[in-house]
Amino acid sequence: MRTPIVAGNWKMFKTIAEAKQFAEAVKQQEEVEGVEQVVCAPFTALPALAEALQGTGIALGAQNMHFEEQGAFTGEISPLMLKELGVKYVIIGHSERRQYFHETDESVNKKTRAALKHGLRPIVCVGESLEEREAGETAAVVGKQTKAALAGADTAQLADVVIAYEPIWAIGTGKSSTAADANETIAVIRRVIAEDFGEAAASVVRIQYGGSVKPDNIASFMAEPDIDGALVGGASLTADSFRGLVLGA
Ligand code: G3H
Repeated sequence: MRTPIVAGNWKMFKTIAEAKQFAEAVKQQEEVEGVEQVVCAPFTALPALAEALQGTGIALGAQNMHFEEQGAFTGEISPLMLKELGVKYVIIGHSERRQYFHETDESVNKKTRAALKHGLRPIVCVGESLEEREAGETAAVVGKQTKAALAGADTAQLADVVIAYEPIWAIGTGKSSTAADANETIAVIRRVIAEDFGEAAASVVRIQYGGSVKPDNIASFMAEPDIDGALVGGASLTADSFRGLVLGA
């Protein structure tokens, strides 16, 4: 059995004060059991959130990291620095990073392996563009991204890996994939992992759907057999909406 996982990706939203307000609001809510919850905040808010989220059941996540432990890499943050803050999850290779910050399958692979090496759980993002979808290339694109991201990983570490399938055309557009389509692509991802690491390892990897997930549509995705959770941007920004996602998961 794979524990469902709902992760909020706050992207470049929220000051430290706003992040603390979110945590305070969450503390007023009753805890929800049976769903793993993660908030991936901007680096600047992580220290305050590490403290403010204590006792809430929400784990701390980052949105990116460098693959080296330290070095002359101006502006970068290392896995050790994230560990020191109590970060448990880190998003790797979000399509916005691939598109605007030149992330490649190679850097995604280095970061994924570095995260695992340091005991951080990577949330590895894969997904096709609208053009690729219309050309019927979805399975090939996400299959290639998944294989590249996980190349060289230890089979035993796959239980710590989360994959987020996010069709680029569905991100922040209000146009989500249908649950059935998302499940079909996610099943392809699981099959590709099984080819490289075996059925048993593939069966423990959690695979999320992301792209315009909201409290009122998350249940339809979660009802699909291969979808284990959601990576959510816009609808994760308020405590009420985040709770709605968790309750629907
Ligand atoms: O990481 C989250 C995704 O990019 C989805 O964003 O929920 O705002 O569409 P969205």
